[in-house]
Amino acid sequence: MMKKKDFIFDGCNMTELAAKYGTPLYVMSESSIVDKCREIKARFLNQYPNTRAVFASKAFQTLEVCRIVTREGLGMDTVSGGEIYTAHKAGVPMENLDFHGNNKTLQEIQMAVDYNVGRIVVDNRYELQNLNQYAGEANKKVKILFRFTPGVDSHTHKFITTGQLDSKFGIPLENGILKEMVKLAEEMEHVELMGFHFHVGSQLSSNEAHLAALDIALKMMKEVKAELGFETKELNIGGGFGIHYTGDEKTVNISEFLDPVMEELYVKCEEYGLSVPEITIEPGRWIVGEAGVTLYTVGSIKEIPGIRKYIGIDGGMTDNIRPGLYDAKYEALIANKMNQQETEVVSIAGKCCESTDILIYDIELPKAESGDILAVLGTGAYCYALSSNYNRIPRAAVVLVKDGEDRLIVKRETYEEMISREI
Ligand code: LLP
Repeated sequence: MMKKKDFIFDGCNMTELAAKYGTPLYVMSESSIVDKCREIKARFLNQYPNTRAVFASKAFQTLEVCRIVTREGLGMDTVSGGEIYTAHKAGVPMENLDFHGNNKTLQEIQMAVDYNVGRIVVDNRYELQNLNQYAGEANKKVKILFRFTPGVDSHTHKFITTGQLDSKFGIPLENGILKEMVKLAEEMEHVELMGFHFHVGSQLSSNEAHLAALDIALKMMKEVKAELGFETKELNIGGGFGIHYTGDEKTVNISEFLDPVMEELYVKCEEYGLSVPEITIEPGRWIVGEAGVTLYTVGSIKEIPGIRKYIGIDGGMTDNIRPGLYDAKYEALIANKMNQQETEVVSIAGKCCESTDILIYDIELPKAESGDILAVLGTGAYCYALSSNYNRIPRAAVVLVKDGEDRLIVKRETYEEMISREI
């Protein structure tokens, strides 16, 4: 008999890890996260002066991940009081934080001011007024950027585009709305407008939308300089760099994506007589997406003759809602059958009472049996972050792996914890 071969990920045996911690289990590779941060450093930060990179922590935020990206020299993009709180608890320097959101609550605005968050990315006039007022009460001057809507279509899934004209995010350029706000901010005593921000969408394979948005940004910057005397010091061009999920989908090459953007920036700034602003990028998925694998145990196997074979797993949309929500596709393998030759085409069914809870349709896998460990790949971004207790399923644990070592960074939720806030 052929010797059984297991799936090894960052030096760790995934079958053994499933036995040690139970399933479903999120496994995150520290080496992969660190490599990505270092690639950003080598290919972007060290190539271009006056640049910054922040990790869009909404993709995957835990205390330990905050510590890793901070150690690697990245700042952090946050979008809620909870994300600021987590970053603060993890010891992320608050001046490295950017705070986003299209409807920040008064409490969140106050928290950001009290914590001395580095940049507040203002989304609308209501927020600007509240911020100036509270910063005044706190006797502070807060550095801000304006998020504007560039009005470009990024051709990704419509649920994850953000830069198009009809968007709940950002300040429209139309009818002088942005310019009016620049004027307003300049008159305010407790905010200091440093520049602008745009984000065009997520899981982008090309830089077309970034280039288009950059052109719009630079024209706008030229106008606000000429008309209002406002010189832009900082420009945040968002995240959205795509990764490989299935087939021939490719992970964005940072140099290929950003070099043309920087080239365009230098040329146009010269042409428009602008000084080159500090450029910030804020990728989330690109840093953590490929670092994640989710392990499940195969349970029921159901064959509908001539139609489909379902492989039932002990997780599903509660730990990964992306297939149900965005029609997202994933690759998978059977962790304890890496060298089994005999394959079949099956569909992977989650355990939730919901027909859309199918993680993968029609994937070719080694013939599965109950008790096998299924590994779904590329689940590091927006899976744990979007997890839920639907059907009262406790949230899965997260284990960090690195060069053959494993360590628990999020404990599995218990039934007691699930009801602990209920009265
Ligand atoms: N900056 C801003 C202002 C954003 O809104 C986002 C993502 C990012 C940066 C990071 O984008 P990334 O580099 O990760 O593509 N839940 C969806 C993705 C939503 C993205 C929302 N904004 C998904 O699972 O595909």
